Amino acid sequence: MNTHQRLLRGPLFTCLGDPGEEATPLPDTTRYLEDGAIWIVDGHIQAVDHFETLADRLPAGIEIVDYRDKLMMPGFIDSHVHYVQLDIMASYGRQLLDWLNDYTFPAECRFADAAYAQAGAERFLDEMLRVGTTTAQVFCSSHPVSVDSFFSAAQRRQLRMIAGKVLMDRHAPEALTDDTLGGVRDSERLIADWHGRDRLSYTLTPRFAPTSTREQLDAVGGVLRNASDLYLQTHLSENRGEVAWVAELFPESRDYLDVYERYDLVGPRSTFAHGIHLNDDQRARLAQRGANVAFCPTSNLFLGSGLMDRLACRDAGLATSLASDVGGGTSLSGFGTLQGAYQVGALLGQALTGWQGFYRLTLGNARALHLDDRIGSLQAGFEADIVVLDPESTPLMARRLSQTKTLSERLFAMMMLGDDRTVAATWANGRLVHDRDAVAA
Ligand code: GUN
Ligand code: ZN
Repeated sequence: MNTHQRLLRGPLFTCLGDPGEEATPLPDTTRYLEDGAIWIVDGHIQAVDHFETLADRLPAGIEIVDYRDKLMMPGFIDSHVHYVQLDIMASYGRQLLDWLNDYTFPAECRFADAAYAQAGAERFLDEMLRVGTTTAQVFCSSHPVSVDSFFSAAQRRQLRMIAGKVLMDRHAPEALTDDTLGGVRDSERLIADWHGRDRLSYTLTPRFAPTSTREQLDAVGGVLRNASDLYLQTHLSENRGEVAWVAELFPESRDYLDVYERYDLVGPRSTFAHGIHLNDDQRARLAQRGANVAFCPTSNLFLGSGLMDRLACRDAGLATSLASDVGGGTSLSGFGTLQGAYQVGALLGQALTGWQGFYRLTLGNARALHLDDRIGSLQAGFEADIVVLDPESTPLMARRLSQTKTLSERLFAMMMLGDDRTVAATWANGRLVHDRDAVAA
């Protein structure tokens, strides 16, 4: 056999569409197999089916990995996270603007150093795989070396990752600010070196309106207009003080979103982190351009930013993705993000079901990032990014799950009780990239 082939056998759950918000998923949107199997050939999924059905078709001697006491799902996806902020997670106190000045900017300054950036990228990816996240859209720092380090590390691990260099040419420490057009030229060099290479994509990353001049935003829009497959990520309407500051800095704009619209930064591959303080008109404008808002519940709670109205976005036809926003976020784990999303939803009378939660973390995020033809679901032809969950990861979870009768209850209880211990293994591109028990041993 000159191809790498393998079969992962065990229960599996995947979404095939959006299951909706009700207690029962919409027809044909979910698939659960009690004794399932994922046949992997050279990094891709060859077939997904009942083990019995696949058994006859398998090549002789194929390696079978036994996950019959586990639950397999597509690898988790994080639509907005800052890899350069791991070290300042859980820094006490203050809302967004003070938090940026006191903690975030000093931490990001350290990524000017190549060795520091390389070690930081490896540490971040170790953590991501430990919590079952196989794809993320990532903010690096303003230093090109932070981006080269991140992409090199992700490439070596054969991961599907989206990342970009932060652009800032004002209102930040000298050590982090670009020369207006130099920052954009650096981005173009990084695009040439990394975008479309293996499983890597580039995302243009103006930090947010207050830290870029009109000239810099305009130049970013120019790059984006000429390359329809590039992504863009930034922040929008996270905090009331921030919204007021943007109004002061851009008096010619009718609202915060209008700043990004003026420079052509709002398109189908644009992710706007937070989007908490938006009105219906702004949601409709974002929806019309096909952009997505990254819902970052643990960060929004930690920084006291506010409660994101997920269903108002849905009603406006605006896609939301789900994100940790570490270092503002308090958990890198998709479980932590889902628990936060549930709690925010509960306060707004729109609590998340387990179906909708796991959909958001996998296929929903893949759709928001236009990657749903290759990741986010367990289907033939998809890339073999898989998380293996352990329903007995703690005595408490084992006990709780023994009390459930339906898959709906089981998924919900796992969503609310899960954490990094729940991730028994992570596979990316058909390779085992995290094995909890091997690490423990
Ligand atoms: N707004 C601008 N920069 C940031 C950041 O690093 N984190 C968060 N949460 N919001 C921002
Ligand atoms: Zn952020």
